[in-house]
Amino acid sequence: MSNLKYQHIIKKMTLEQKASLMSGKDFWQTQDILSLGIPSIFLADGPHGIRKQAVSSSQMGFNQGIPATCFPTEATVANSWNIELSEAVGSYLGKEAVSQNVHVLLGPGINMKRSPLCGRNFEYFSEDPYLAGKLAASYIRGVQTHGISACVKHYCAKNQEERSMSLNTIVDERALREIYLTAFEIAVKEGKTKAIMSSYNKLNGEYTNENLHIMVNILRDEWEYDGCVITDWGGSSDRVKGIKAGNELEMPSSGGETDRQIIDAIKSNELAEEQLDECVDRVLDLVLKTSQIGKTPSMPFDVAKHHRISQKMAEESIVLLKNKDDILPIKYNKKVAVIGDFAKEARYQGSGSSQVNPTILENTLECFAESGITSIGYAQGFLRNGKTQKKLVKTACELAQKADVVLLYLGLDELSEVQGLDRKDMRLPSNQIELLNTLYKVNENIVVCLSSGSAIEMPWIIKVKGLLHGYLSGQAGARALLRIISGDVNPSGKLAETYPYRYEDTPTYNHFPGKEASVEYRESVYIGYRYYDTANVNVLFPFGFGLSYTSYEYSDLKVNSEGVTFKITNTGSVPGMEIAQLYIHCQSKAIFRPYKELKGFKKVFINPGETKEITISFDDKSFRYFDIENNSWEVEESSYDILIGSSSQDIKLTDSLFITGTSKQQTYTNHSLKHYQSGQIQNVPSHEFEQLLGYPLPSPLWDRNRPLDYNDSIAQCIYAKGLVIRISFRFFQLIMWLLERTGQRKAYNFLKVSVYNMPFRALSLLTGGKISFQTVDGILLIANGHFFKGIGTILKKKQKGRNDV
Ligand code: BGC
Repeated sequence: MSNLKYQHIIKKMTLEQKASLMSGKDFWQTQDILSLGIPSIFLADGPHGIRKQAVSSSQMGFNQGIPATCFPTEATVANSWNIELSEAVGSYLGKEAVSQNVHVLLGPGINMKRSPLCGRNFEYFSEDPYLAGKLAASYIRGVQTHGISACVKHYCAKNQEERSMSLNTIVDERALREIYLTAFEIAVKEGKTKAIMSSYNKLNGEYTNENLHIMVNILRDEWEYDGCVITDWGGSSDRVKGIKAGNELEMPSSGGETDRQIIDAIKSNELAEEQLDECVDRVLDLVLKTSQIGKTPSMPFDVAKHHRISQKMAEESIVLLKNKDDILPIKYNKKVAVIGDFAKEARYQGSGSSQVNPTILENTLECFAESGITSIGYAQGFLRNGKTQKKLVKTACELAQKADVVLLYLGLDELSEVQGLDRKDMRLPSNQIELLNTLYKVNENIVVCLSSGSAIEMPWIIKVKGLLHGYLSGQAGARALLRIISGDVNPSGKLAETYPYRYEDTPTYNHFPGKEASVEYRESVYIGYRYYDTANVNVLFPFGFGLSYTSYEYSDLKVNSEGVTFKITNTGSVPGMEIAQLYIHCQSKAIFRPYKELKGFKKVFINPGETKEITISFDDKSFRYFDIENNSWEVEESSYDILIGSSSQDIKLTDSLFITGTSKQQTYTNHSLKHYQSGQIQNVPSHEFEQLLGYPLPSPLWDRNRPLDYNDSIAQCIYAKGLVIRISFRFFQLIMWLLERTGQRKAYNFLKVSVYNMPFRALSLLTGGKISFQTVDGILLIANGHFFKGIGTILKKKQKGRNDV
């Protein structure tokens, strides 16, 4: 007990009190013990704005939050590649959190964009762990300057939304380390995050919050993390195992249900009290340090100023993807037709737990007057819900005919990018494409302004001259976009993810989403550009790509063992910001690896005619790879190409450097990994993946022969033994089918996310214990064919909860 920071408090605590600190008091607050001077702290989403529910904190769900600035989502911020700005946004977020008495801000989300279809990609930074990690670390530093805590999430390997609460992610150790953990490593070591949220899924068979390998060996022992680990809401499965893995805070409240499990485990010697004390100590550290901010009177924030920062972030994040005949910026004397529903009602954030209630919300039509561009009118053009309405197309064409330029606002709607669901394809709704095709027949000067939080296919791109991607640019995004269209701002965003031509080209095409029980990451380290580059697959827009209204020339590369310096000259006529990227290619073929990987970047402002010298230093990640035989990071002895690019494919300067390796390099000596050597990983056979993985693949299907249990999802009732449950489930499916058929997407999504894909345990864990574990036991008995026993269990006298003790 001597290493505990709060030994003086812990020694006064009863076992019950200790156990009670291990889970929330309600949906958003930690448990207080006022007699010992331990207050509650408040946790709120995150990541791109504060979502503190206006209603009671005992309530679950995605209720309307108190107004807060809706900054651009992380997928958007990532396009800025601007570490300083990301830190500033983090700091403004922190300020707002303080003003709302929020002590832990649940963000940033730094999961990798393994597939463009993951429904929550809009909440994540990138397909590249280095970029995501650096942005996350700066965001965390910004948030934490206010004395509160960020909470980086979701640790880890959660890259699919559907069934994520019970899904088993199967990934080899090298990909885990190099791709899925590196951003977290940077967030811990450089961002010094005080809290981490474990993810819902299993990792190689064990729930992440119980997984000793990632929780203890890596997080605590290797990275020396001494902060707090919090479960994702309802994500705890075996509470005692969670405590053993150092996952100290279960959220939300289980109404005391899990306290009892912890107490029983201590009493039966299954869990050592010292281990519980360590967890208590870390919770106390988070609570006692961050709760200080609640003591200062609520500090209001400057709404207008925060709105402007949100606009600035959006301006740096919007990406110019095409500019044929220099159609942009639009000259003041041009007559512009504004078409598209998104111009009137901006699409600016995604749906789910991150949804912010904005303080101000601008749309294009309102901001148009001050842009200086001459509008000749607006036409809706299409229905947001995807249905075709010929009349709208006709009116839009009539307007377009009279214009010099058509500004066409297209994108995905709010119901397409949602927590809990993945997209089915990478397409824009067909009614929008039909509109574009028809408009093209009457006016070829089309500039598309796109809103979506993830990559989409663009077979229609040939029909547009200009293409600006706004991503989901927050409450001030509409104005930011107009300032780029008018030329008041020179675009400087670059893509933080690749845009393939077709969904079929993506590395995970055959393995996303996973099957019923698991998802196999057969592509290993080859995600995003790492795959396209290595396997020579042509893409529409490469990682790191973005145009500008000016041009840049790169020169004078000098490389030494410390890093690189080079020069960039702005050779155009307007000031601009260029994002220079450092990639490294290993010349040796002994150990398979992606053709090149991002190892540094810098964003610089340069005036026309000016030259700036850029320095990018190498760091501990520049040449390393994870050696699975030695279970350690190693450096392969080889010459490395040092590539400086303005995108991952537009390499401007090249040199090479010999690096002396570390002594232990043995990876894969006994294996023949043909697909991984070539990078052609779309069809890796099971036996080759198993060699890489080091264990036999479990069946990807649900086991229909065993009884249903706490961690099985409601969807599995389809094969429940109990007739009553099976029939009820069929009826439920019928309702879902009807909703889908009749286009009631919102209601359908709701049922799919909050019932169909929910595990049984969530019935209790997401109702704050209002449905007790005993009731869940009863339901499971009925589902497993023991109807009367189940009813008996449900009706039995309820055991006492935390507050009844
Ligand atoms: C999400 C988290 C979020 C939490 C609280 C969960 O469902 O996965 O990202 O922070 O809810 O709203």
